[in-house]
Amino acid sequence: MKSISIFYFSGTWGTEEIVKEIRDRISPACKVSLKSIEEHIKADKIPELNEDYTGFAFPIYAFNAPTLVYDFFKRLPDGKGHPCFILNVSGAGGEKTSNAASTHYVKKTLHKKNYDIVYEASFALPSNWADAEPHAKALNKVKAALEQCQKTAEEIRTQKRKLRPTPSVISRLITLVGKAEHFGAGWFGEGLYADENCISCGLCAEKCPTDTIVMKEGHPDFGKKCIFCMRCIYDCPEKAIHARRMAFSVLKNGYDIRSLFHEARR
Ligand SMILES: Cc1cc2nc3c(=O)[nH]c(=O)nc-3n(C[C@H](O)[C@H](O)[C@H](O)COP(=O)(O)O)c2cc1C
Ligand code: SF4
Ligand code: SF4
Repeated sequence: MKSISIFYFSGTWGTEEIVKEIRDRISPACKVSLKSIEEHIKADKIPELNEDYTGFAFPIYAFNAPTLVYDFFKRLPDGKGHPCFILNVSGAGGEKTSNAASTHYVKKTLHKKNYDIVYEASFALPSNWADAEPHAKALNKVKAALEQCQKTAEEIRTQKRKLRPTPSVISRLITLVGKAEHFGAGWFGEGLYADENCISCGLCAEKCPTDTIVMKEGHPDFGKKCIFCMRCIYDCPEKAIHARRMAFSVLKNGYDIRSLFHEARR
């Protein structure tokens, strides 16, 4: 195999760290191109299948893939049997009963588009949602994920066939119930606001994957297209963004997975 592409979405940069690590561990044996799902959507661009093997990587939101990822799948051309693999990243890991069906509907969607799904792997990282993990535990999780990248990179490079068994009815039901999150996300986003610490830098509007933040008279205005990715909240340099709704989901001390990866690699 000569070339691999990985289309990925990452809300708070954990999935991005994982796919970059995998790319670096496969290269130079094989060329790996990372392609941003949100940039394809923003630019209204049709994804192209120019490489021999194609991956899709995303975080788990409510036991499933984020809505943005399903929007992206709608744009995919007919796979005509093209081989592909799936990587997902979550707080609990893909093997937990609650997350066990997190790729089930993704696989159905890709099958319908005639993709040959060859391989899948799940990574557990410190969660960016609701429960902060103690620093030592979070760091160990990142170190374990980095080790797992070596094995996963080798399995992708050799196009190993490895898929999770069909999830139990309970796991599939959990994922179906989780679809409520798809509607709750817009409601959550409409309840976001910036406090007096906002310095009108505009970064939140610039970085929002769905462009639902618009600067009005120097102040961010939050629209209805939020996908609950948490990026604006954790990346605001002044920590000025807060949630009026489902405030429990925001980690009090913020979330900076890149610095944990940095520490884990030292
Ligand atoms: C809206 C939302 C829902 C989430 N749902 C789940 C979940 O169902 N299971 C889980 O293990 N982690 C869940 N998480 C945690 C993320 O999957 C995890 O923090 C992941 O590492 C985020 O990846 P990213 O940094 O690439 O966005 C959720 C996070 C968010 C923001
Ligand atoms: S990123 Fe923070 S400081 Fe900058 S405009 Fe947005 S809310 Fe204000
Ligand atoms: S408003 Fe914030 S949480 Fe919602 S999609 Fe945009 S960056 Fe993500």
